[in-house]
Amino acid sequence: MIKIFRRLPRWLQLTGIVLLTLAVVVGYIGWDRFLRVYPEQQFDDPVERFKYGSIGAEQDAGIPYWIFYVLPRVFADKLPGPGGYASFGVAWEPGKELPIGFTKRRIGFDRVANNCAVCHTASYRTQHNASPVLVPTGPNHTLDLEAFFRFLVDCAKDPRFHPDTLMPEINLAADLDWIDRLAYRYLIIPITRKRLIEREQQFEWIYRHDFPEWGRGRDDAMNLTKYFMIRWPMDDSFGPTDMPSIWNLGKYRHELDHRMNFAGDSHDAYSVIIDSALGLMGAEPKDKDDFLGHIDWLHDYLSNKPAPNYPFEIDQAKAAHGARLFTQHCAACHTSERTGTIIPLAEIGTDRERMDTWNEKAAAEANRVVEDMDIERRGLVEAPMSGYVAQFLDGIWLRAPYLHNGSVPTLHDLLLPPAERPQQFYRGYDVYDPGRVGYVTSGAEAQRAGTLHDTSERANSAQGHDFGTALADDERWALVEYLKTL
Ligand code: HEC
Ligand code: HEC
Repeated sequence: MIKIFRRLPRWLQLTGIVLLTLAVVVGYIGWDRFLRVYPEQQFDDPVERFKYGSIGAEQDAGIPYWIFYVLPRVFADKLPGPGGYASFGVAWEPGKELPIGFTKRRIGFDRVANNCAVCHTASYRTQHNASPVLVPTGPNHTLDLEAFFRFLVDCAKDPRFHPDTLMPEINLAADLDWIDRLAYRYLIIPITRKRLIEREQQFEWIYRHDFPEWGRGRDDAMNLTKYFMIRWPMDDSFGPTDMPSIWNLGKYRHELDHRMNFAGDSHDAYSVIIDSALGLMGAEPKDKDDFLGHIDWLHDYLSNKPAPNYPFEIDQAKAAHGARLFTQHCAACHTSERTGTIIPLAEIGTDRERMDTWNEKAAAEANRVVEDMDIERRGLVEAPMSGYVAQFLDGIWLRAPYLHNGSVPTLHDLLLPPAERPQQFYRGYDVYDPGRVGYVTSGAEAQRAGTLHDTSERANSAQGHDFGTALADDERWALVEYLKTL
């Protein structure tokens, strides 16, 4: 090779060297600006890590930072309200670059993705003019995830998702060098647009007019798994559920046959965490050890994170009365060997639609997908769906609205006969109601901030779970008082 090179005329040797140098430089810049994986930001405080730490989703599911930044400005007309991304119900702490549950990492260029905290951080206010109290690992009851998904796809389909519109906005905020500007204009914006539009088909069911809205605080979790993880064609099932709390996961014990997720679809916390993380990544992890490192950390953190205490006053005498009622009417399922196990639908009688979004064939297929990635876990339960899990009630005060589909606004309402429970209410307003125990769900403010839940619509019914509903009114209030202590 070298001999041949030496025999070439001098001008050709020079051209060769120049071209080779150029190729190396362009290759290096390409690698540096598109592929080079920079280290993740490290967090000493576990709470900060849970809220903002990357779990590796930026690689495949990441949105280029500057596109993410300008979308709410360019497409303000597509937001559910004022306030940019906060209008979707994510919590944005003062002075932070991104909302809770959003992570940033440079892989060539800065990318934004999500972690668990976007759905699993609760916020409440003690009164209208108070600042929100944030409880990481609690349920995000304000998040309008369906609207967020639609926003991204709708932006991508809009002619304004074009370098001529986005670049001037980006240049206003960012100090990009000429290479990054060219990259954004000719590659990053067109590719992002294409990838978002490609996902539209998987999102088809969130545009269906025959399904009601998920509403704030809910997502159609098993259908997400079906359409994204195992890529099944769309069927007619529909079963959005509340975002659950994920604190104190150590209470679930596989050896006692405890099951997780509302319908008991999964064997243990380790499996649910893996499947949730894979859902966020949208693809097989590039670095398995790194991925499993995040899973182990989350498993340990969530297993030991205690449920938060009730922040208002508790009438101890009344609660003691309530404790006796609890033993009589509730303990058989909520503090017994049945707790954490599936109660047959015929016995519980709540809305069945969520159960029908999943089945053993889907479980087997999802397990195969994860097995093919060489990831070991007990996984999803390959058995027919039969009912709903009798919930552990730790921190139940912060888990409103109640039942798997969030169809009952407060604990007091849950103790009313199903026909007397509210038929319409607003979910997603964050002012707390320490009286009935739940959030405020009516009035102008709740209506403005929330989304309407109509129990007559599909998958929304507040039927069933009619335990304790024959109690006298003072007994009902005593039982509510006791539930505050859990
Ligand atoms: C897009 C919102 C969303 C994200 C992001 C998300 N989850 Fe969840 N998670 C849910 C919903 C909704 C359920 C309830 C599913 C069902 O049973 O219908 C759930 C269920 C769970 C459960 C089961 C709780 C129980 O008591 O049975 C655990 C544990 C959990 N998630 C952990 C995680 C972890 C860890 C992550 C991050 C790796 C994560 N989730 C990311 C929405 C989310
Ligand atoms: C026969 C078993 C059984 C009995 C008895 C029972 N529950 Fe339940 N409970 C369940 C099951 C199963 C669920 C989940 C149902 C669903 O979400 O569809 C549940 C859900 C709940 C929830 C909602 C949890 C959440 O995260 O939204 C609360 C609160 C609750 N029960 C309180 C009580 C109280 C208070 C009593 C006594 C008056 C009681 N339960 C009696 C089985 C029972």
